[in-house]
Amino acid sequence: MRFPGHGHRHPEDVVIGPLDLSARVDEALAVQALAFGLGQDEVAVRRQIVLRHMTYPGARALGATSAERLVGFVYGMPNNRTHWWSTVVEPYLRARDHDEWLDNSFVITELHVHPHYQNRGAGRSLITTITDAATEPRSILSAIDTDSPARGLYRSLGYEDLARQVLFPSAPKPYAVMGAPLPLRRR
Ligand SMILES: CC(C)(COP(=O)(O)OP(=O)(O)OC[C@H]1O[C@@H](n2cnc3c(N)ncnc32)[C@H](O)[C@@H]1OP(=O)(O)O)[C@@H](O)C(=O)NCCC(=O)NCCS
Repeated sequence: MRFPGHGHRHPEDVVIGPLDLSARVDEALAVQALAFGLGQDEVAVRRQIVLRHMTYPGARALGATSAERLVGFVYGMPNNRTHWWSTVVEPYLRARDHDEWLDNSFVITELHVHPHYQNRGAGRSLITTITDAATEPRSILSAIDTDSPARGLYRSLGYEDLARQVLFPSAPKPYAVMGAPLPLRRR
């Protein structure tokens, strides 16, 4: 899939395709560090987490590249109630009778686009393409519980709030957990 570049700084096309995330973890984390704002110590921690995640059954990643450079990525996996993320969100979902969303669900673990390449449809294409290949009937994710471009994008794709003000140990800001039926809504 190609997106015509516009603007003067980045005339190259952005291409969405499979990504060997274990092999390109440092490039991906460099994108995440810029997009999400990670310090060097957080990058080192995330690096080990990403490499572990990619060993989980069904874990998959897609990249957005421009002239061979990685400018965005998404990865996720079928949810498993024994995974750390699922154990953290489960009591919040259960309190709202939503914990069935943890079964038969594809989790979006990370989605990030380099700031210079945002608002050109790459994020939308990454998440719709990865979920289109999922066999699960639904998808869940967590996002910082604020009105961000990410929250706006997820809502426009059909994700709705399943829980809010979810606290992850060591994360300073509360998260919202969102869920959507698959395939994701098209405009
Ligand atoms: C979230 C993110 C990946 C989206 O990538 P992107 O390539 O810019 O997204 P797209 O261009 O495909 O879609 C942008 C959409 O975001 C939404 N959006 C953009 N700016 C917005 C804003 N200021 N307020 C609300 N929604 C906004 C819109 O729904 C827009 O869709 P549109 O096509 O109708 O305009 C990117 O903003 C990013 O990397 N953010 C920082 C990291 C982050 O928060 N990641 C998610 C962690 S949960």
